[in-house]
Amino acid sequence: MPQHPRIRSVEEYQQAYQRSVQDPDAFWAEVAEPFTWRRKWTSVRGGAFSPEGRSTWFDGARLNITENCLDRHLAQRGNKLALIWEPNDPKQRHLRLTYRELHQEVCRFANVLHNLGVEKGDRVCLYMPMIPQLAIAVLACARVGAIHSVIFAGFSSTAIADRVNDAEAAFVITADGLNRGPKQIPVKRVVDEALAHCPSVRKVLVVEHLGWPVHMHEGRDVWYHEEAEGVAKTCPAEEMEAEDPLFILYTSGSTGKPKGVVHSTAGYMVWADYTFRNVFQVEENDVYWCTADVGWVTGHSYLLYGPLLAGSTSLMFEGVPTYPDAGRFWEVIDKHSVSIFYTAPTAIRSLMAAPLDNVLSYSLDSLRVLGSVGEPINEEAWYWYHTHVGKERCPIVDTWWQTETGGIMLSALAGITPSKPAHAGLPIPGVQPVLLTQEGQEIEGNDQEGYLAIKASWPAVIRTTWGDHERAEQTYFRPYPGYYFTGDGARRDENGLYRIIGRVDDVINVSGHRFGTAEIENAINQNPHVVESAVVGFPHDVKGQGIYAYVICRPGEGQKETDLLHLEASIIETVVAEIGKIARPDKIQIVSGLPKTRSGKIMRRILRKVAEGETSNLGDTTTLLDPAVVDEIIGGRK
Ligand code: PRX
Repeated sequence: MPQHPRIRSVEEYQQAYQRSVQDPDAFWAEVAEPFTWRRKWTSVRGGAFSPEGRSTWFDGARLNITENCLDRHLAQRGNKLALIWEPNDPKQRHLRLTYRELHQEVCRFANVLHNLGVEKGDRVCLYMPMIPQLAIAVLACARVGAIHSVIFAGFSSTAIADRVNDAEAAFVITADGLNRGPKQIPVKRVVDEALAHCPSVRKVLVVEHLGWPVHMHEGRDVWYHEEAEGVAKTCPAEEMEAEDPLFILYTSGSTGKPKGVVHSTAGYMVWADYTFRNVFQVEENDVYWCTADVGWVTGHSYLLYGPLLAGSTSLMFEGVPTYPDAGRFWEVIDKHSVSIFYTAPTAIRSLMAAPLDNVLSYSLDSLRVLGSVGEPINEEAWYWYHTHVGKERCPIVDTWWQTETGGIMLSALAGITPSKPAHAGLPIPGVQPVLLTQEGQEIEGNDQEGYLAIKASWPAVIRTTWGDHERAEQTYFRPYPGYYFTGDGARRDENGLYRIIGRVDDVINVSGHRFGTAEIENAINQNPHVVESAVVGFPHDVKGQGIYAYVICRPGEGQKETDLLHLEASIIETVVAEIGKIARPDKIQIVSGLPKTRSGKIMRRILRKVAEGETSNLGDTTTLLDPAVVDEIIGGRK
């Protein structure tokens, strides 16, 4: 049987990289060979990359990704642990599922979906706690050929409704409630509020987790444990085309509502597996833990699909890093002998703020590789992670990628290619990064800075934005024809290692969560007291970026101190209702005007500088309609 190719040295990396660029068809055919295919592809790469933005990979092939995640491991790894689940409360029992058990659970869930009427191509939205049934449900969707759309369980009912309606989902899977640290949240109630505005939904499948009584909508809602009674634990996998969509995942852009990023089946599978094995240098006995929620792309590619495709043991954690105390991550690592740990800089920064004893009182001997994802990791956090968690012996992989890229694009391969603090490093084979000037000229050579773009298609490139292909082309492929545009600025150091500087568009990254400033402004503007608003990011010690909102209220409002407090609370409430707590503004400044040019465009540069506290050097303000507004804004800075 052909083996999945693994890079083991810098020389092998260089050879693989060269080959992936010079002969991509042969390179990717070899990488794809060891998977289980019902039928092989007729072409490795096809379609159009940019500016049309409709790549195809492994076209003509037929497969089911769950056969690759589960069935093909049964002979060799049937009794190996596939999933370890660590609950929110350390006093509660953890759970372990072998590959055989997970296979059975997924099959049973898939049969329940069939019985409810779920068919190939149907969209199924999931709004779930981080419990094994979430992993099982996602895989069950893939088993029956339904397109899963996981909605992070911190989003509000309005945000759920937007996503369910955009995908025209007929099915929703949820739970009675969830635990998040000391809090419990009535998830089903949030879903019920949303579904009052979602005419497409026919059935809601409810998983029992907290044992809470919930309202069951007659004819629509059913309990999973009742539906699953007596249902078979085998289920043939639906045969899918390589380019059939596997999932939709909503993410924020610089304009309008969040868009549904669509990933295909075969290309995504190959990419998730290849990057997982090579970046983390996974060995058979590793226990791997990715702390991301399955509601984000990291949870899709590196908690579920990547590890299961590779036959690894993946740990899923229900709780938060600081509950019951700031030692929880380290306690879990010791408890389950975790060897590869993948988390976000924001989590590291929040734990750095706690007394060092929280980490020093655990051995962390089992750790071998550390990873970082989601936002730039500052040097201080990198060194803390390296010294106190990695004990200066574990390589750190700082992995740069995006919801749209499906998997890791720039990163060190653990212990093999160079790892430099605050740098993502070299490209994964198959990735051709370039730096562009604003006008779209490629910037040659090292020690350079520019807009980060990708020159050729890779297997997991975004295929479309759900229901609006034009939007995908416009956002990613048309700004610089011939390239995929990332929206990030980057620097290439003297050795060709990439460092991500941050977004160059109106997207902000708050605790690793992506928001469009326009999206938050739209939410704020729903508040009846508000006339207009402008949102910018500002540097935040723990979150990376915080949310700073400048708000114009109706005449006469917000003049007294008490009014102001009331207004701020009301605006926060609106944002929480429209998007969720994760988008809560950190600072709100009520202003009487915004710095606009004569053509009515808000000069965000000025607002950003004021929010950052850099008020001495605001640049040219002569084109402003009313320069006096700037003094007022500086004077009222929060
Ligand atoms: O700005 C980059 C930042 O996160 C953005 C992508 O966000 P999202 O689609 O939510 O995916 C996050 C998980 C992959 C990027 O455009 N970003 C992601 N990883 C890094 C990063 N910035 C710096 N370093 C990283 N390692």
